[in-house]
Amino acid sequence: MEFLGVDIGGSGMKGAVVDVSQGTLRSERIRIETPCPSTPDNMAKALYELTKKLNWSGPIGCGFPAIVRHGVALSASNIDKSWIGQNIETLFSETTGLPVMALNDADAAGYAEMTFGAGKGQRGTVLLITIGSGIGTALFVNGHDVPNTEFGHLLLHGDIAERYVSNSARKRLELSWEKWGKRFNEYLQHLERLLSPDLYILGGGISKDFEAYSQYLEVEAPIVPAQMLNNAGIVGAACYAQRRLEGSL
Ligand code: BGC
Repeated sequence: MEFLGVDIGGSGMKGAVVDVSQGTLRSERIRIETPCPSTPDNMAKALYELTKKLNWSGPIGCGFPAIVRHGVALSASNIDKSWIGQNIETLFSETTGLPVMALNDADAAGYAEMTFGAGKGQRGTVLLITIGSGIGTALFVNGHDVPNTEFGHLLLHGDIAERYVSNSARKRLELSWEKWGKRFNEYLQHLERLLSPDLYILGGGISKDFEAYSQYLEVEAPIVPAQMLNNAGIVGAACYAQRRLEGSL
């Protein structure tokens, strides 16, 4: 069964047709720059363009970089503030003429990793952390998602953690892997005191550099890099759309 999965981020909007029974891509992966300003209308037009490029006319699952409650964006950390209060599903469905189901982008990546990747078959408490322009988190308890955890906005050194440990912060401050790894370890230790997870999965573009910083991470639970790499958000969004349409969520 095929669904279009779309992963919307602060810098790029990526999409592909996904075989949701295998967790694999069935089309090329298309990336469009996130429009600037990243207003609802501009992003809806970009999504429409993406569906046209892929010649898609079925349901769409959409990972979105904000708190998403019943289809509505409730925050806007790395996108235009005018998103707050906007119904993503209604706007995107109207613009594309296709059914759209939206969820937080980290939760989407979590669905993919828990179904096909590093968290497959894992019971207990699993915390997936996506490291990119922001920090996204997905918490799974015995395989069930607790949506919109937003642990990237926990306070660390008097500011939200993502300003201190995101990949953007690493690049902006030109931190070595050692410096960044030690910072990230502080963040992990904070999370460990709060949640005592059984497993951490690190996702986002930086998961491919895991070997460069893993030696600086010291927490009780095992830490593994995400396995679906750049496709987790796309695959997970498609899986979410399937589950919503089936009525299993
Ligand atoms: C947002 C989250 C999102 C994360 C990754 C954060 O700034 O608040 O909702 O999951 O970035 O995109």
